Amino acid sequence: MLHAATVSLDDLDLSTMTSGWGKAQKNLSITQKPLVIAGHKFDRGVGTHADSDFFVQLDGKAKLFTANVGVDDAAGNDQAAVEFFIYGDNRELWHSGVCKWKQPPHQCRIDLKGIESLELVATAAGGSVSYDHADWAGAMIEFDGKTPVAKAPEPVKEEAVILTPPPPTAPGINGPKIYGVHPGSPFLYRIPCTGERPITFSTENLPADLILDRESGIISGKLSVAGTNDVILRARNSHGESQRNFRIVVGNTLALTPPMGWNSWYIHYNRVSQAVMRQAADQMIGSGMADYGYQYVNIDDCWMKKRGDAPYRDADGAVLPNWNFPDMKGLADYIHGKGLKAGLYTSPGPWTCGGYTGAWQHEATDARKFAEWGFDFLKYDWCSYGSVAGGHTLADLQKPYQLMWGELQKVDRDVVFNLCQYGMGDVWKWGGTVGNCWRTTGDLGLERGSRLPGFYNIAFSNARHDEYAHPGAWNDPDYILIGWVGDAHGMGEGKKTTLTPNEQYSYMSMWSLMAAPLIFSGDMAKLDPFTLNILCNSEVIAVDQDTLGRQAKILRQTGTEFVLVKELEDGSKAVGLFNLAAHPAKLTVSWNDLGISGKQMVRDLWRQKDLGKFRKEYAAEVPRHGVAFIKIMAK
Ligand code: GLA
Repeated sequence: MLHAATVSLDDLDLSTMTSGWGKAQKNLSITQKPLVIAGHKFDRGVGTHADSDFFVQLDGKAKLFTANVGVDDAAGNDQAAVEFFIYGDNRELWHSGVCKWKQPPHQCRIDLKGIESLELVATAAGGSVSYDHADWAGAMIEFDGKTPVAKAPEPVKEEAVILTPPPPTAPGINGPKIYGVHPGSPFLYRIPCTGERPITFSTENLPADLILDRESGIISGKLSVAGTNDVILRARNSHGESQRNFRIVVGNTLALTPPMGWNSWYIHYNRVSQAVMRQAADQMIGSGMADYGYQYVNIDDCWMKKRGDAPYRDADGAVLPNWNFPDMKGLADYIHGKGLKAGLYTSPGPWTCGGYTGAWQHEATDARKFAEWGFDFLKYDWCSYGSVAGGHTLADLQKPYQLMWGELQKVDRDVVFNLCQYGMGDVWKWGGTVGNCWRTTGDLGLERGSRLPGFYNIAFSNARHDEYAHPGAWNDPDYILIGWVGDAHGMGEGKKTTLTPNEQYSYMSMWSLMAAPLIFSGDMAKLDPFTLNILCNSEVIAVDQDTLGRQAKILRQTGTEFVLVKELEDGSKAVGLFNLAAHPAKLTVSWNDLGISGKQMVRDLWRQKDLGKFRKEYAAEVPRHGVAFIKIMAK
């Protein structure tokens, strides 16, 4: 009888093995040390880093896969945790359970009969990828037929299915049900409303100092008395009528629901100009995005003078825009004319990240100038501030934000303040005292994906800070990068996103569940129907904008599933069941886990369709990297 042949995993071409950090190593750990798991040394094998994925082509005649898996001793940190998965033809064959640093290797011995595609996955076991040095030690494949070879993952073919039905021709008022404004600041609100135009708007209980334009639905004026105003908004056309409660809270807090809008960074970079900003405002109306609540039109970096292009400021010390922005006030007026709001960016350092004039030592002047021009939103970075900060204590980290926040409180406009310092000093713990939202991570556009696209890592990290989010104060996981976006590494021209349709559904669902600012940063001039379907589902957005202002909690997180639950004002719960695996999987949420019991109505939010009543749990077959996004209501 002939003996089967064997091939060591390390003899395969490892260039197609993805790795969350570094590059997969032959016979060494990811940091190029000998392969050692809890003191057991292995001469052969592959060292990689979570998240890692590797595909091997078999021919149905392979027999056995054997390996010792675990965290390499060189990880050197007890936060390290990896979970290994093995799939055959998209079916799970084995998983290791969570492997921690210094735990003895897990042995696997798997029958490969009939399998044609073998997939080896090392995940971060639902935690951060830091220190997750993952070893496939002594891994071998025994085979009878063709020699196994490494293969690139199959290109994923997914049809871009629009799940959401088009809005009815009758009016449908969207947008937040609560809205904060400072006493004495200009008030501007365009009622977001779908339906066939012309629509006639009307209101009930609108404070006398506010005026409604009945045709455009734009409310403007000024409220000087602090307090709560419960208004009813109405919209009518030849097909019907819609109404919505709208509470205007005149007080200290802005952004009572997460800001929604568009930002220029990931599509225009240093090519941004007044012309594209105006065009973006036009498109926000023209595409219908504004009818779902998108309202901020925000310039990112690169509107000021570049370092080397002095003068940077005028004789009064006011910051000078560059030649791409000849008329900042005119631009803000133009945006306001559409009932939308204008935003801009600067940095507390002498220079911005792009090397343009920052606000250092001109904070008061700049705050006043921004307000005078008419800007309603300020993103405040950190770049180059490190060189003048004097230290890295918590007080040093907070100082520039306290300073600018203080200046913004003195101007007679409402300026939503967005901190962009990437999470330093656990900003989620104090961001709400000096701002309205704060970036919790590095730039999403620079985040390297491995097994999953980069936005997942950002979401996993942002999701852990749920307890700090509340009305007026939001965790910001960065922008929604879908449609046409430019590669942030080279400030590239726009290209169609490589995210699959299901990944895009997951992205928008996660952001809504996390009560994140919904700021799109792709090309407003190239909004295709699928991208708009992702951005503009009124029920999905309503989860984000819910008046209670809670961020979803993580109910479950493993290497293959991620489940978020958000409490909503009406007592219902929004649940996202995210499938992290590269193949369809059945995901379940039980009433027990949710702390509820009895009959519950389950609604599919993407399809805007009731799924029926369920007594104990809800289970869904979820596509590769996709989501079941549901709302659960007691019945
Ligand atoms: C930083 C920010 C980005 C963008 C750039 C502009 O990297 O995190 O969002 O504003 O600066 O230079």
